Amino acid sequence: MREDSLPMNTIPSLRGRSLLTLDDVSDAEMLDLLALADALKKRRHQPPARRRPLLAGKNIALVFEKSSTRTRCAAIVAAADEGAHAEYLSKNDIHFGRKESIADSARVLGRMFHGILFRGFAHATVTGLAKHAGVPVWNGLTDDAHPTQILADLQTMREQFGTLQGLKAVFIGDGRNNVSNSFIQGCAKVGVHVTVCCPPELAPSRTVLEAAAVDAQRNGSRIEVVTRPEDAVPGANVLYTDVWVSMGEESQFAERLRLLRPYQVNLRLAQLTGNLDQGRLIFLHCLPAFHNRDTEVTRDLGALECTDDVFEAPFSKVFDQAENRMHTIKAMMVASLS
Ligand code: CP
Ligand code: NVA
Repeated sequence: MREDSLPMNTIPSLRGRSLLTLDDVSDAEMLDLLALADALKKRRHQPPARRRPLLAGKNIALVFEKSSTRTRCAAIVAAADEGAHAEYLSKNDIHFGRKESIADSARVLGRMFHGILFRGFAHATVTGLAKHAGVPVWNGLTDDAHPTQILADLQTMREQFGTLQGLKAVFIGDGRNNVSNSFIQGCAKVGVHVTVCCPPELAPSRTVLEAAAVDAQRNGSRIEVVTRPEDAVPGANVLYTDVWVSMGEESQFAERLRLLRPYQVNLRLAQLTGNLDQGRLIFLHCLPAFHNRDTEVTRDLGALECTDDVFEAPFSKVFDQAENRMHTIKAMMVASLS
């Protein structure tokens, strides 16, 4: 039998550590996680018999308060690929926060599972879990942050451009949501210039911007917030958008449509980057996306945050990005549990 293509000494050690925001890893550790995700992606083509399972015997709890396609499936497949068992526990299945405090549930789960992936509302819930569980806790999205998403985004950007340092990324839309917060943070840690393009009402918080400015300065990049899309996009290598109304904010739908209609990513905007015809532009979206009428929400409205011609264009890398959720979540689990 040929050797496993992944030598143990290439696995960064984040043993026992949680990932609640990208602040929980250093710049170097984040790059190491991305390198591990690349190696795991290549290694997945090796026949299973040639792969030493990296999470054999581990049990992982997936505690989810909100819906998920990618994060849930990425975690389940990542765990299974490496010989671990992942158990999905929706908030309706367990007592979490209703009949039992977060601290008590955390201590119980921590006695049985080796790691916990959490998706939910208040960020305080994931920090409470991490404080009490005694095992690594990974944030699979809260109202404030979506760190595992950004690992996949950066992996995708590097696959497309061969480098991260010096790229210009424009996040356009709801500039203060979980994805935007973590994208600003992640880009600043690897030297990507970030322009957040949003209406003033939806600008990132001063706390997020100030923390990112420190990271960006260390890595030679800049963070800016711009109101007009035509001012934001020239020179962009990455146009990134997300839904205008995040999970839990459904009551604000009408107001968000009013504020964000001018921020739709369409072909005209992509052309304004000046990089589309040069092959120096990609489109990213964490998904799910409202790009046509094929959803219950958009049947009568049509495309919202991005048009179909952008979403389906060759420069759209959204499905590479979705696949990379699995490789990056696997990297995080392996680094924390090996
Ligand atoms: N991007 C993302 O987190 O997708 P899901 O909501 O489907 O997990
Ligand atoms: N901002 C979105 C991201 C979904 C992956 C939400 O929180 O609903």
